[in-house]
Amino acid sequence: MQRMADYISVDDGLVDCEVYSAAVYERELESVFGRSWLFLGHEGQLVRRGDYVTTWMGETPVIVLRSMDDVVRAYLNTCATRQVTLLPYDAGHAEVIVCPAHRLGHDTTGSPVSGQAVEPGHECLVPVARVETYGKLIFGCLSDDSPTLRESLGDATWYLDNYLLRENIGGLQLVPGVQRYTMPGNWKLLAENFAGDDYHVAITHASVLAVRAQGIEPRLNNSPGKGVGANLSVATGFQTGVPHGFLEVRIGEEFFEHDLMRAQSIGPEAAEWVRTRRDAVDQNLPDLAVKPYSFHVANLFPTLSIIGNGTSMEAVGLLVWHPRGPHQTSVTQLCLVDAGAPPALQRQMVWALTHQQSAAGVFAPDDHENFERLAENTRTFEARRVPFNYEMGLSGEGVDVRPPEWQDPRWPGLVLPRFTEMIQRDFYRYWRSLMDR
Ligand SMILES: [Fe+2]
Repeated sequence: MQRMADYISVDDGLVDCEVYSAAVYERELESVFGRSWLFLGHEGQLVRRGDYVTTWMGETPVIVLRSMDDVVRAYLNTCATRQVTLLPYDAGHAEVIVCPAHRLGHDTTGSPVSGQAVEPGHECLVPVARVETYGKLIFGCLSDDSPTLRESLGDATWYLDNYLLRENIGGLQLVPGVQRYTMPGNWKLLAENFAGDDYHVAITHASVLAVRAQGIEPRLNNSPGKGVGANLSVATGFQTGVPHGFLEVRIGEEFFEHDLMRAQSIGPEAAEWVRTRRDAVDQNLPDLAVKPYSFHVANLFPTLSIIGNGTSMEAVGLLVWHPRGPHQTSVTQLCLVDAGAPPALQRQMVWALTHQQSAAGVFAPDDHENFERLAENTRTFEARRVPFNYEMGLSGEGVDVRPPEWQDPRWPGLVLPRFTEMIQRDFYRYWRSLMDR
């Protein structure tokens, strides 16, 4: 196969449609999904010893569990002798995992149950090479030969610690239930949409924004509006590491004031929580003169997207893009709220997320239609003559836009204009390096 460098000309902002083809897809399952740290779930899904969930790493089915010795572990969800699926359910409780084909049983630490004669090396249960957690977020890597989770997250941890996980005020609490739905389109298009495409929002989601502007449904009104504060994008790992993108990085007292106003309509406890949440950032970052209020949307390379995080009035959605062939993607979506928020505010948070970014929300179907239209067309031979265009902001490549008074080495990442395709270019640049390695 040709090198991906022949298909991706990042310096010109051009990406050939060939990168969404079946041939490339087969290779990226190994080169990208076989080497990257992939999100497996949240520890809130594994409360008791023996609790498990099933998910995928690329197309590889895996089991994620809390073993009976209280360790988060992951195994391939296929037996090593015939690739038979071991656990067919999305979630459950198991103290022994039995292969249905040959009845070999393993305990949750991966050892054959006593009394079975299994030759060493012929165990049915194959562990995922590495499993690590970051603030209750569980990640796995199928390769021993790639950077650690923390190295891969890089400067993204600053945004996760201060603006997502917020463990100094109790952290995030998982709302029971998982959404699973299918989106048309190659997984890369969905991931880079969250990593760097704030530009599409006002156009693709114009009808939702019009409803917000009319005040018909104030519970959707998550931002003080245009011309208020600063709304920026941030690239971490830019050209130096694993690329992660953060969108709608909100700076300005107006974002806090807007949240506070909305929380007051719920009650004084909700308003107090909005203050607690803001104060927690000040406690974490006392010496930073200018600091973001939060970020709203992000993608951690390759396939963990985050939404709803820019306001105290919305739950956090974690969306995982599982590839299902070159033109289809399965989505697993978790919903999390601030554990310390009062119940009335938690209810508002869940309402706002599920009515916006979810299978039946007002945002996701708009994107669904775009991806449906383009997925059909990227299949054709003719379409592959016309590269996708990611030229926006090309002249400012690698330039941080913070004014001098905002510059501070303790605030990491490359801070960019809100509308640019720089993060997407870096996404493809890094993807290309994995493919051509
Ligand atoms: Fe969208």
